[in-house]
Amino acid sequence: LNNGLASTPPMGYNTWNAFHDEINETLIYHAADELVETGLAAAGYDYLVIDADGWANFQRNGSGPIEANSTRFPNGIKAVADYVHAKGLKLGIYSDSGTLTCAKYTASLGYEAIDAAQFAAWEVDLLKYDNCFSRTVRSRYEAMSDALNATGRPILFSMCEWGVSSPWEYGNQVGNTWRTTQDISLAISATWDSVMNNLEGTKGLARFGGPGGWNDADMLEVGWPGGALLSDVEQRAHFALWAILKSPLIFGNDLRNMTRQTLNILKSPEVVAINQDPLGIPGDLVWKQGPQEVYAAPLVDGSRAVVLFNRHQHLDPNFPSQNMTVFWRSIGIPPNVTVWAFLFSSSRP
Ligand code: GLA
Repeated sequence: LNNGLASTPPMGYNTWNAFHDEINETLIYHAADELVETGLAAAGYDYLVIDADGWANFQRNGSGPIEANSTRFPNGIKAVADYVHAKGLKLGIYSDSGTLTCAKYTASLGYEAIDAAQFAAWEVDLLKYDNCFSRTVRSRYEAMSDALNATGRPILFSMCEWGVSSPWEYGNQVGNTWRTTQDISLAISATWDSVMNNLEGTKGLARFGGPGGWNDADMLEVGWPGGALLSDVEQRAHFALWAILKSPLIFGNDLRNMTRQTLNILKSPEVVAINQDPLGIPGDLVWKQGPQEVYAAPLVDGSRAVVLFNRHQHLDPNFPSQNMTVFWRSIGIPPNVTVWAFLFSSSRP
C-alpha cells in the first residue's frame, strides 16, 4: 500500500500468542519498558501491538466509535499511546472486518470511518484487522484501508485475512501486510508442524511482496517461558526463514521471561539486516532435494542472502551434520563471475 509505511517488513511485539484476552494497560506499559530495556527496541522491534478482542467493550455505544474496556484500560488508549510513544515505540491495535470480532466483541463493519478516526485520534500507528464474522473480504478490507487513509494519519494496515481469499493477489493495493495462512499455534502449544505449515503457505509468494506490502507468515514462535517447545535449533531455523521470506518479524512470547538464547536469536544483527534490506525483494525456495532446501534473496548491494535448511528431523547422532550443495546459478549468480562468499551461521553458541 502506498501510504509511506512498511518500506521494509514491520518488526515488533504482539500480545496475542502469550496473553490472549488477558491484557490490560499495565501489561502494555511493562511490555513497552521491556522492549526498551532488553535492547529489542534498539534492534528494530518498534511496534507494540495490543492484539486481543478484549481491549474493547463488547458493544458499541449507540453509533459511536469503538471504546476501550474501562476495567482493562482505565486511562484509555490515548494514554497508552502516549506512554508507548514516549519510549520511542509505536502502538498497534486490533479490530475486525466483520459483524463481530473472533471472541464476539465489537467489530468495525459499517463503522470503518468512525473507528479509523478514533484510532487516529488516539494516535495509533498500526491496525491489525481480522476476518472473523466476515465475508466478501476484499471489499471489507478496502473499506478500512480507505478509512485509514482518509484520517491523514499514517497507520500501518495489517490485514489478518488468514490467506483464505488469496489476499496476496490484492494485498499490495489494500494493506501493508497480509497473512498467508491460518494462525500459527499459540504459546502453550507451539509446534514445529505449525511453523512448517506456515512456511509451506508462504512459499512461492515472493513476487507479491515488496516495499509497502509484505506476505505475513504470522507471528514468530521464538522464545517461550520456561524453555522451549521448539528446540533452540528449530527456533533459529524459523527465525532465519521468516527473515529471508521478508515476513514481518513480530514476536509473541512473554517478554518477562526471555532467556539469553531468545534475545540472541531475535537480535541477531545479520539476520535482521537481511529482513530489513532496503532492496525489499522477498526470498523464496530456489532448490530442494529431499529434506534439504535452499532459500535465496537478492540484497541491495548485489549480494545474495541464502538459507540452507535441512528439514530432516531424525539425524543419526553419529553424523549430526549434513553436507549441502548450493549451486551459484540457483541463487541467481551467473557463471563466470568472481564470487566472494561470506558464511555465517545462526548457530553460534
Ligand atoms: C485471529 C488472528 C490472530 C489473533 C486472534 C485474536 O485468530 O488470526 O492472529 O489476532 O484472532 O482474537
